[in-house]
Amino acid sequence: MCGIVGYIGSREKKNIILEGLKELEYRGYDSAGLAVLKDKEIDFFKAVGKLENLANKCEAFSSEGFGFAIGHTRWATHGKPTEINAHPHLGEYSCVIHNGIIENYKEIKEKLEKEGISFLSQTDTEVIVQLFEYYAKDMDAFDAFKKLVSELKGAFATLLISKKEPTKVFFAKNAAPLIIGKNADETFFASADAALIGKVNDVIYLEDVSYGYASKNELLIYENDILRANTFVKLPSDKAYAQKDGFRFFMEKEIYEQSNVLSEVLMGRIEGEEIIFDELKNENLKDVEELSICACGTSYHAALSSSYLFNRLSKVKTSVEIASEFRYKDGIVKENSLFVVISQSGETADTLEALKIAKQKGAKTVAICNVDNSSIVRLADYSILTRAGIEKGVASTKAFATQILTLWMLAIFIAQKKGFDMNKELKALRHIPKVALVTQKLHDKIHRLSKRYLDGHGFFFIGRDVFYPLALEGALKLKELSYLHAEGYPAGEMKHGPIALADSKLYTIALMPELCLYDKTKSNVEELIARDSTVLCISPNEFELSDDFIKTNKQEHFMCEFFEMMIIVQLLAMEISIRLGNDVDMPRNLAKSVTVE
Ligand code: F6R
Repeated sequence: MCGIVGYIGSREKKNIILEGLKELEYRGYDSAGLAVLKDKEIDFFKAVGKLENLANKCEAFSSEGFGFAIGHTRWATHGKPTEINAHPHLGEYSCVIHNGIIENYKEIKEKLEKEGISFLSQTDTEVIVQLFEYYAKDMDAFDAFKKLVSELKGAFATLLISKKEPTKVFFAKNAAPLIIGKNADETFFASADAALIGKVNDVIYLEDVSYGYASKNELLIYENDILRANTFVKLPSDKAYAQKDGFRFFMEKEIYEQSNVLSEVLMGRIEGEEIIFDELKNENLKDVEELSICACGTSYHAALSSSYLFNRLSKVKTSVEIASEFRYKDGIVKENSLFVVISQSGETADTLEALKIAKQKGAKTVAICNVDNSSIVRLADYSILTRAGIEKGVASTKAFATQILTLWMLAIFIAQKKGFDMNKELKALRHIPKVALVTQKLHDKIHRLSKRYLDGHGFFFIGRDVFYPLALEGALKLKELSYLHAEGYPAGEMKHGPIALADSKLYTIALMPELCLYDKTKSNVEELIARDSTVLCISPNEFELSDDFIKTNKQEHFMCEFFEMMIIVQLLAMEISIRLGNDVDMPRNLAKSVTVE
């Protein structure tokens, strides 16, 4: 997601920060900024768009001689990608950069506003610097910093500099990475190894609930309020490896990241027993009579999955269409209907055109999108960002996961306005980040199994209900990465034709959740087994007849089963493709963003 760098030393600080940020570009960003504290003065610069824009802005600025600098690249999640919302955020005499989400920023903001403090930006980050200055009125700067950190809830890696204490950089870390590197005369900070490689050899990876400060000669780190020893470890030296956080492929990194980004989707959107979407600005969706959802590819599978939830929870009639089909069918868009488009990139030509058509026909439109300021976000009446961060792997994984969670929350949001009992749903929602953790044991098992699925005359992924679109998604992942033929099918539909293909070289991947039509799916799988298909069953319930079996955990909600199985089909596609020697991140013939018809 966002990138953080910091520097204490005598070199040209602007260049050190820009170089560091350049190394973090791969993480994606839509604005950037830096600040330099030297001789008790702070200079700062911010720019929307590429780092070149920031470099141009500070071209005439120079900062040689001992001093302190911080820099940031921002991927918008709270507030538009504007200069005001770019980091650093400023108080009267301090400034801050931050990665993560401050969950309780609204409460802190309200408290400070009551004290007459006004805010410039729409971000959660600004509360850090305002709260610091609020406390620093009456206490030492480090005490003020400690106090403010103790009040923050959520994920943060943050660096703060202040004219009140012009000899220190204050830092804090919880649930977002922050690394400190040191050589004889210099200290470096970064949110990822890549920005430090070539600058230092030894680093400290801060643990959660850490804070402290660094000055010319000191580095004090407190962990859970206890001063810890500064024990350095060797920094890896391979940048490409570092950019993938040590994973072999970006796709693999993104599969493992899903638990974190799903937490981000939830952050600030569940208040007490209610779902809140600030983005809908009090729009009352209670009166929506019909929903139309349009998307392409994986986003279309998210759309189809959500239709089951909109029907079941929101009790709203929902139709789903592939955007390229919707465009030319002169589709009917009714008054009082809500037209939802889903897109990771926000630039997919077919989806954008479908949105234009719906707008022309007078529908109220909502975009579920991962990229703020994209064409689709700019055009839709309302946009809900999916907060997945940049997705580098061409085959979509974490974007899909965040779309599904966002849509499920939207379904509950519409349902709650109708007096719906939400306890069960909210409990399950909160559990999803845990469900989406990838264990080594599971990954090893899938790696071992994958060697049996490298040939054959085709794959069928089958499931029922919401697991049918997941079957479609599993098949799409396998097709994209392995170039083997795979189809997703409703389990109950196999007997109406495709079962004719069944033999031992037809591989069936059966999604058999316990909490969603288990017995029905089981019968369908038995029909295939009777025709000698080779079947890999994925289920919490042992199934003796299957050739291969991946046991999932017992869950309390079928959507928890959905997320667990989603990870399994993603890993399976990846492992098969690695064995086949394919480029997992850049499959042949595919592009990440399809801006042509
Ligand atoms: C599959 C994949 C594509 C996209 C599709 C739509 O892994 O990534 O099928 O989902 O091209 O793209 P977006 O979501 O950007 O509109």
